[in-house]
Amino acid sequence: MKPLLLRALENSDSISRPPVWIMRQAGRYMEEYRALREKHDFLTVCRTPELAVEVTMQPIRFLNPDAAIIFSDILIPAAAMGIEVDFAPGPVMRNPIKSAADVDALRLPSIEKELNFTTTAISMMRGELDALSDDKALLGFAGAPWTLACYMIERGPFKHFENGLVFAQRFKKAMDSLLDKLTSVVSDYLIAQCEAGANAVQLFDSWGGVLSTEDYQRYSLPYIRRICENVRRAGYPVILYVGGSSHLLPTLVESGAHCLSVDWRLPLDQVEKIVGSGIAVQGNLNPAHLYGQPSEIYNRTRAMLSKLERRGGFIANLGHGILPTTPPENAFQFVRAVQEGWEPANTTR
Ligand code: CP3
Repeated sequence: MKPLLLRALENSDSISRPPVWIMRQAGRYMEEYRALREKHDFLTVCRTPELAVEVTMQPIRFLNPDAAIIFSDILIPAAAMGIEVDFAPGPVMRNPIKSAADVDALRLPSIEKELNFTTTAISMMRGELDALSDDKALLGFAGAPWTLACYMIERGPFKHFENGLVFAQRFKKAMDSLLDKLTSVVSDYLIAQCEAGANAVQLFDSWGGVLSTEDYQRYSLPYIRRICENVRRAGYPVILYVGGSSHLLPTLVESGAHCLSVDWRLPLDQVEKIVGSGIAVQGNLNPAHLYGQPSEIYNRTRAMLSKLERRGGFIANLGHGILPTTPPENAFQFVRAVQEGWEPANTTR
C-alpha cells in the first residue's frame, strides 16, 4: 500500500484521515535527543548516518506520526559548497559571501562523494520504516535558493533577513549566479535523496515571506520552479514550505510544487479558496499553541481540520517548526487529535 501521505499528496479523496507529521519533529524538545546531543555535536549527528537515523527515529517511536523527515539541516549543502557553518545553536557563517569573487569561489559539490552521509542515512531509514509498516512516508528536504542565499551572505545571528535583498541590489549578477548555483545543487541533492529512498521532499523557503510578491517572483519563484520541475521529472512530489507567505499564495500556486505548506496567519478555508483544489495543502497550527492545555490543543487541532472543505489533498502539520521547550506529550496530543480522523471518535470533550 502507498503511504498515506503520498495518497494525500495525490489529492485522493479516498483517504480515511489526513496524514500528520511535525516540522522539526526530531529535536531539543525530546529528552532522548538532548541526551544524544550531550555526546555528539549537531553537525556530527547530521553527518553520521547511524546517529542521524537514531535521531530521525526518536519521534517516530514516541509520536507515531505518518512521516519521518531525515535528520539534517538546510545548511549542510552550503557547508559542502565552501561556507564554514557553525551552530551556536543558531547558524553562524564563519566566511559569509561578501562579493562576486566569493560567489565564484563556491564549489558545486559531488552529492555522491560529499553529501553521501545524507543518502546513506535515507536508505538506512527506509529499512527502519519498512520494518515498522508499509504506511510511513520518508521525507527528504533542502533549503530553497533564496533562503540559503540569505544565510550564506551574512555571518549571523539572523533576525530580519533584509540583507538578501541588499546584496541582490549591490551585486546583481553575483546574486543571480549564487541562486543558479544553489538551484543546481539543491535539485541534484533532492533527487539523490529520493533515489536513496525518500518518498517525497520538502523545500524550505523559510524566509520567502520577507519579500514582496514582485521581489519573490524575481528572486525566489523562478529557482523554485526549476527545482520542482527537475524533481517532478525524476518522478517525485515536492512540498513547498514558505514562512509568512499569506501574501504570496496566489504566486506560489505557480511554483510547480505538489503541496504548499503554510503558516497559521490565514485559516485553512481561506488558504483553500486562494490556492484552489489542484494543489495539496499542509499546515498550519501555530507551534506556540502546543503550550496550551491538552484539551485546548485537542480542540484547536479539531477546529483546524473542520475548517477544511476538502477530504484529500491535506497534510496536518504545524505552521513552522516545533519550539525547543514544547512539552513532548503536547506534541503527542496534536498527532493523536489528527489521527482520530475527519470526524472525531469522541465529541464529548
Ligand atoms: O524536522 C526535522 O526533524 C529534521 C531536522 C531539521 C533541522 N533543521 C534540525 C535542526 C530540519 C528539517 C531543519 C531545517 C532548517 N534548518 C530550516 C528550515 C525550517 C525552518 O525552521 O524554517 C532552517 C531555517 C534551518 C536553519 C537552522 N538550523 C536554524 C535557524 C537553527 C537554529 C534553530 C534553533 O532552534 O535553535 C538550526 C539548528 C538546528 N537544526 C537544530 C535542529 C534540531 C538545533 C540544533 C541543536 O541540537 O542544538
